[in-house]
Amino acid sequence: MDGYPTLARRIAAQQRALGDARLVRTPRPPQGIDLCSNDYLALARHPRLQQQMIDAVRREGCGSTGSRLLRGERDAFTGLERQFASFKRTGRSLYFSSGYLANLAVLTAFPEAGDVILSDERNHASLIDGIRLSAARRVVFPHGDVEALGRLLEQRPDGGQAFVVVESLYSMDGDIAPLAGYAALCRAAGAALIVDEAHAVGVFGARGSGLIEACGIDTDVFVSVNTAGKALGVSGAFVAGPAWAIEHLVQRARPFIFSTAPPPAVAGALDASLSIVAGEPERRETLSRLSARLRTRLIEAGLSVPCGTSQIIPVLLGENERAIQVAQAMQAQGFDVRAIRPPSVPLGTARLRLTVNIGLTDEIIDRFAAALAAAARIGEKT
Ligand SMILES: Cc1ncc(COP(=O)(O)O)c(C=O)c1O
Repeated sequence: MDGYPTLARRIAAQQRALGDARLVRTPRPPQGIDLCSNDYLALARHPRLQQQMIDAVRREGCGSTGSRLLRGERDAFTGLERQFASFKRTGRSLYFSSGYLANLAVLTAFPEAGDVILSDERNHASLIDGIRLSAARRVVFPHGDVEALGRLLEQRPDGGQAFVVVESLYSMDGDIAPLAGYAALCRAAGAALIVDEAHAVGVFGARGSGLIEACGIDTDVFVSVNTAGKALGVSGAFVAGPAWAIEHLVQRARPFIFSTAPPPAVAGALDASLSIVAGEPERRETLSRLSARLRTRLIEAGLSVPCGTSQIIPVLLGENERAIQVAQAMQAQGFDVRAIRPPSVPLGTARLRLTVNIGLTDEIIDRFAAALAAAARIGEKT
């Protein structure tokens, strides 16, 4: 570091600024009752997933040893991709080592110079980064605003392909996108609808495949991105869509081509989680019931919680310092909640992002809501 005084000074100044704004982040391992992870269906520690992963390690070893297009290919991946495509009712799917990379892949492989990407203003960083890397023009539309999107689609110049990029369940606000409205607009305008189902896959829909299924817009979506490290309890992500589009990703998506394939054992665990999602709909029902209970208890306790039905419940606290203090007070009482601050959320909207998982009980939820109501008085403006 001493060899680069200018760089060291610059970084030190940036770190001081983060400290002044109460924006320093420190990784903290899981401690206490989980009210912040994305393990909504409590599959990450499920014995069947663990066993299938262990069996696969014994069979296949640890590393995949290369890119899928070199020696990293395995029958376990292709079998899993067939299984996921049929779960999602699409022609084909392709498995990536993370949702972040899957979004970069989709947004750099399909949109080209001369195209336009219309992107919801609250889209996840991985979608934003993918769009920044793409050669297409980017237009941001107000969050969840179907009419604004309609106007933008009407105004766009002729020529080029339009892409509309949204999440189905927003990760920090817990609200569900107006997918049916987007689907109708895209159908009329010939725009390609790209839907990130990161927090919806496994959770919504009669078969658990996500909000695309729940909204009945399967045939209107170009491709969906479905992370496997959240409700599915493992890691990676599936891009699902028509066979010709997925084949294009195999040929062109740089995060697929120029990266070592995931450990083959994750395919073993994911095979188990897909069959549990398909065979145990009661997990989704329990999640929905517990989520409704937590929202009700928080509102009864006088906390301001946006209306909604999902398992992601933001409790807006405003200032960064206040969010940190409330989170620490809850952690001290044995509840694992985390303060979410900019740039993950807009300035002045620091919050606790509460998430429900089916390992919680009614008793824990009631106790938690009462404790949070008391803790939230910290730093309250009167
Ligand atoms: C909406 C959304 N898309 C994509 C991702 C990235 O997925 P992964 O964690 O598998 O990289 C996330 C992760 O938080 C997300 O919330």
